[in-house]
Amino acid sequence: MKKIYKGNVVFTKNIGELTSFENGYLVVENGKINSVYKILPKEYEEYEIIDFKDKLLVPGFVDIHLHAPQINNLGLGADLELLNWLEKYTFPEEAKYKDLDYTEKSYKALVNKLWENGTTSSVIFGSIFKKSNILLSKMISQSGLKAYVGKVNMDRNSPDYYIEDTEQSLIDTEDFIGEVSKIKNIKPIITPRFVPSCSKELMYGLGELAEKYDLKIQSHLSENIDEVKWVRELHPDCKNYIDVYEKYNLLRKNKVVMAHCVWSNKEETKKIKDYNITVAHAPVSNGNLASGIAPIPSYRENKINVGLCSDLSGGHEIFLGKVIKEAETFGKLRRIEDNKKYNYMTTLDYFYMATKGSGKFFGNVGSFEKGYDADFLVIDDSNIQDVNERNLEERLKRFIYLGNSGNISERYINGEKIEKPF
Ligand code: GUN
Ligand code: FE
Repeated sequence: MKKIYKGNVVFTKNIGELTSFENGYLVVENGKINSVYKILPKEYEEYEIIDFKDKLLVPGFVDIHLHAPQINNLGLGADLELLNWLEKYTFPEEAKYKDLDYTEKSYKALVNKLWENGTTSSVIFGSIFKKSNILLSKMISQSGLKAYVGKVNMDRNSPDYYIEDTEQSLIDTEDFIGEVSKIKNIKPIITPRFVPSCSKELMYGLGELAEKYDLKIQSHLSENIDEVKWVRELHPDCKNYIDVYEKYNLLRKNKVVMAHCVWSNKEETKKIKDYNITVAHAPVSNGNLASGIAPIPSYRENKINVGLCSDLSGGHEIFLGKVIKEAETFGKLRRIEDNKKYNYMTTLDYFYMATKGSGKFFGNVGSFEKGYDADFLVIDDSNIQDVNERNLEERLKRFIYLGNSGNISERYINGEKIEKPF
């Protein structure tokens, strides 16, 4: 089944390179992009054309790292750094998700917000509670959005009201994998919280589950200076933070996303590259929690894949347009810190990270190249136009700098319009 959508088509195939078609056509076949045209070939003339007129058509945003059970903490906790923030704000909030009524109420709001902000795909940390995570997975699936969902594991250095027994944590994770694998558009992902929260036995067991079910893995890496020091103390046999994940078989090549990597040194960066790990860059979170400025310009130079994320609720901003803007600012500051050793990075580089950079983790997501999932947003930027004629690149930049979720008039996933979920 073919469908044709007409509008101002804008996307990035390669980092920093914009492809645009003014009054172009997106031809979608069975939910995938078949082709994009400036002039529609004769063979398509008898198809119905859905005409978005002067609006922009851009790939849906892909948020590659966020914590679902932190949704009610948005805007709180920016007065502490990571380790104290976890103790004071985060663990007490996540512990509430043992209650399925609280889960349902809160996740209705979360899923609505993802929809509203044009986040068509996301990679999510849940809580430690199996049932709560299964409910989250079902709710996202019902909404039509796509996600990887992970049951968080933590069996050490955690408060007694929010900690698991090692064996039970692994049993619950295996049950979770079985249940979630049956849910449409949702994939389970192995989710050790971070090294300080996971015993050697737990990490090893999670590595085995990842192998057994051929699953991807997500965690945190070198986010905060005190965290990095603590990991050194906990694992004196490992030279760098990443070596702990490596030692316990948690670095599956091409299948890992690590959030932050703010303080990764040269050796750690080499391993990020060698294992083709995707770095989840969270500038808003890194600012709120005073974690530091990630060396994204150097990752780009090293051809490391970077995706953008909100890191809710370390970050409070769900709209990835704003995250793109913050990433750009952080990147410029980092480049100055690095004595301008690396190339200047622009809005288009970060737009790529919020679409195809993050989308690669899902496969063919985040672009309008042939065979990609037809996941797109319809952008009405009429309220942010000025008196000058603007080209599509300028209109995209203004949407990112001046726009918000109110400019997203429709969301499509696999060529189907997705309505407000709850
Ligand atoms: N490291 C371990 N847990 C977390 C979390 O919930 N948020 C952030 N930003 N970092 C973490
Ligand atoms: Fe995080």
